[in-house]
Amino acid sequence: MSTPAVKQQAHEKKRLLSGMQPTGPGALHLGNLEGALRTWVRLQDEYEMYCFIADWHSLTTRYQDTAAIGPACREVAADYIAAGLDPNKCAIFLQSHVKEHAELQLLLGMITPVGWLERVPTYKEKRDLLQERGEGDESVSYGLLGYPVLQAADILVYRAHSVPVGRDQAAHLEMSRELARRFNRLYGDTFPEPQALIMEDTGVIPGIDGRKMSKSYGNAIYIRDDADTVARKVKEAFTTPSKMRKSDPGVPEKCAVCQLRKLYDPTGYSASWEEDRQGLRGCMQNKAELTEILNDMLNPMRVRRAELLADPAELDRILTHGAEKARETAEATMAIVRKAMHF
Ligand code: ADP
Ligand code: TRP
Repeated sequence: MSTPAVKQQAHEKKRLLSGMQPTGPGALHLGNLEGALRTWVRLQDEYEMYCFIADWHSLTTRYQDTAAIGPACREVAADYIAAGLDPNKCAIFLQSHVKEHAELQLLLGMITPVGWLERVPTYKEKRDLLQERGEGDESVSYGLLGYPVLQAADILVYRAHSVPVGRDQAAHLEMSRELARRFNRLYGDTFPEPQALIMEDTGVIPGIDGRKMSKSYGNAIYIRDDADTVARKVKEAFTTPSKMRKSDPGVPEKCAVCQLRKLYDPTGYSASWEEDRQGLRGCMQNKAELTEILNDMLNPMRVRRAELLADPAELDRILTHGAEKARETAEATMAIVRKAMHF
């Protein structure tokens, strides 16, 4: 079998890879959209892109209900495309469709000191949470401890240069870099060290209760929410606690509705914030206007995702095509890896 040159050719585009877990309902919310997806969409012309759905990773915490994972993956794929990822430019696929991720994970696992894994903050948090909930030692699996090894395999199997992720993923990226260095030291120069592209420009998107928008907090507005659901959620949203009447002054910095308005109406929000501060506008008006802004933004995405989910054969075709493209790259890397390790 011919092995492609290890070094990148000057004319080639740099490779970029990222992914999300299909946990919960799978569908993505405004935090995922603004904190991750939009950046991927922006970069897809510039890079050779691989955007996958980390279905094996979701087993690290939810191995009991595997039947929900497949449908959740389709929701995520539909959201990726509805947000603007183009399957002709970017390989969109499921992690479990490219078995090379598992082979590399096994090999990397052999050179990963357990102490490195035990120090990863996300592992410690999840372990403590499971133990707090009284789920006992048996709920903390080998797979949960090995989460960053699988993530390193996801990245290194494409010999990716850049990985756009949120700040919460920085420790996982560092582990991928350390494993690349360790592999290169042991078996010769094989992997470029993947660079984290930390996406901080949008900041943390607040949910309707003012905390970080997250599927675990029940405070998220989803891309798939219909217009009435968006209206209901915005009606329930937290505003300035001390503002009871229209004439009470608001504090837009502390109001979830005003924060979302600023994000989605960057040129027009300041007039509404000023009126809010001066007690010239009520929360009802603020909420009605935000609902309209959000629905105008989400509507084309809803239409696109509904079309995709209504046509399972088309979505299958996209995911199969994405996996084929990914497999080709992953298989080329594995040929280099097996040779480097004398298999
Ligand atoms: P959740 O908190 O809903 O479980 P994930 O942890 O699966 O979301 O996040 C997937 C991606 O979306 C990550 O890159 C993360 O940084 C980004 N993200 C999630 N929530 C937000 C938010 N509220 N604001 C900005 N980015 C977010
Ligand atoms: N751990 C990431 C998250 O929770 C998802 C993920 C898995 C990932 N493998 C990856 C992200 C590889 C980037 C690259 O958001």
